[in-house]
Amino acid sequence: IGPDVIDIRKLYGQTGKFTYDPGFLSTASCNSTITYIDGDKGELLYRGYPIEQLATQCDFLETCYLLLKGDLPNPQQKGDFVKLVTNHTMVNEQMQFFLRGFRRDAHPMAVMTGLVGALSAFYHDSTDINNAQHRDIAAIRLIAKMPTLVAMAYKYGIGQPFIYPKNSLSYSANFMRMMFATPCEEYETNDVLVRAIDRIFILHADHEQNASTSTVRLCGSSGTNPFAAIAAGVACLWGPAHGGANEAALSMLVDIQRNGGVEKIGEFIRQVKDKNSQVKLMGFGHRVYKNYDPRAKLMRETCHEVLEALGLENDPLFKLAMALEKIALEDEYFVARKLYPNVDFYSGIVQRAIGIPVSLFTAIFALARTVGWIAQLNEMIGDPEYKIGRPRQLYVGASQRNVKPIGER
Ligand code: ACO
Repeated sequence: IGPDVIDIRKLYGQTGKFTYDPGFLSTASCNSTITYIDGDKGELLYRGYPIEQLATQCDFLETCYLLLKGDLPNPQQKGDFVKLVTNHTMVNEQMQFFLRGFRRDAHPMAVMTGLVGALSAFYHDSTDINNAQHRDIAAIRLIAKMPTLVAMAYKYGIGQPFIYPKNSLSYSANFMRMMFATPCEEYETNDVLVRAIDRIFILHADHEQNASTSTVRLCGSSGTNPFAAIAAGVACLWGPAHGGANEAALSMLVDIQRNGGVEKIGEFIRQVKDKNSQVKLMGFGHRVYKNYDPRAKLMRETCHEVLEALGLENDPLFKLAMALEKIALEDEYFVARKLYPNVDFYSGIVQRAIGIPVSLFTAIFALARTVGWIAQLNEMIGDPEYKIGRPRQLYVGASQRNVKPIGER
């Protein structure tokens, strides 16, 4: 297909041969026009636009439009899109009863996996994945309702009443109000904080064929409904090696801080380098980026802005994160393995400063990634080569043997 790409199907055809590639280190599973990453340069483009320009010149709903439709909206298109999404921000009242079935201390990702999957039980007019109209309306519903569901999961966990969406606010301001307003007190939105949340959404909106996106594609390839496919993505994202890393990165910083702070970084790095310890520097390393994650650079900037706006410039965790980053970037272990901070290294500090509890970080990532999952699902279904995903395996188990009667085993 290209100088670095071999089309294995043409090479092996029906010969019965196949490639062995655990973890898909050398396998492209699809063609895609959505997101481009150059891991060596540390470059990320959505539909050709650099992430730096999108994060500084566009808002999240413009980015959603771009990912779904292929180009940025003009003012008319943007207005229509915002209106459409805004019309769908409420969730069916009955979803509340479903949510109330969870324990209050359930992890928000357990709740989100259930809630997103349950949407398919409420919206029967948007469950046929092979019908473009169904997919379109499911896309709008998912993008519109994710902030409402995440905020509901949060409010339920802390025992506060749900706050209904306020459609006169922007997507991100509305989310923050649903999180932090109470029936007793209105939430004063702060532009710097709203912009920071919006930026977190933009930076997490898509990232080509990562584990959760591949899960969504594989799940959708069976012809299941869009809500079920996105729920599968939410479940996959939960893992600490993927979306759960922001939660793990912040917990790591809190632990180091509690055990002596900056003074103890050297000891911590020694543990990370000890192969028997299983300790990793969370928020560092990436399968594709072998250079600074461009999202981490933007997040670091946002971190400065948010802490300054809140008068937290001397936040000890931020200082610790910067010191840890500096030491790791100069250490031979990290240099040799090309391990750099990823987006999760700083996003946790931003969210914590805004008042978002650590346990909600991955749910917020899922909220942002929903649009990417949908765009990828649409692209797969529109591809004439689309087939059910069915990897092969290299069987290394027992050869054929006979079952003995139970008394003889
Ligand atoms: N801390 C310490 N060592 C690391 C780290 C880390 N964070 N990441 C990788 N390494 C080491 C590995 O031990 C391995 O060393 P070795 O060659 O001596 O055996 C080497 O670097 C290569 O690592 P792999 O695990 O082969 O890299 P892979 O591409 O499979 O993993 C991953 C990438 C899962 C992201 C890994 O770097 C990691 O676990 N990082 C911490 C979790 C994290 O931050 N995840 C977020 C990813 S970004 C996202 O989902 C938004």
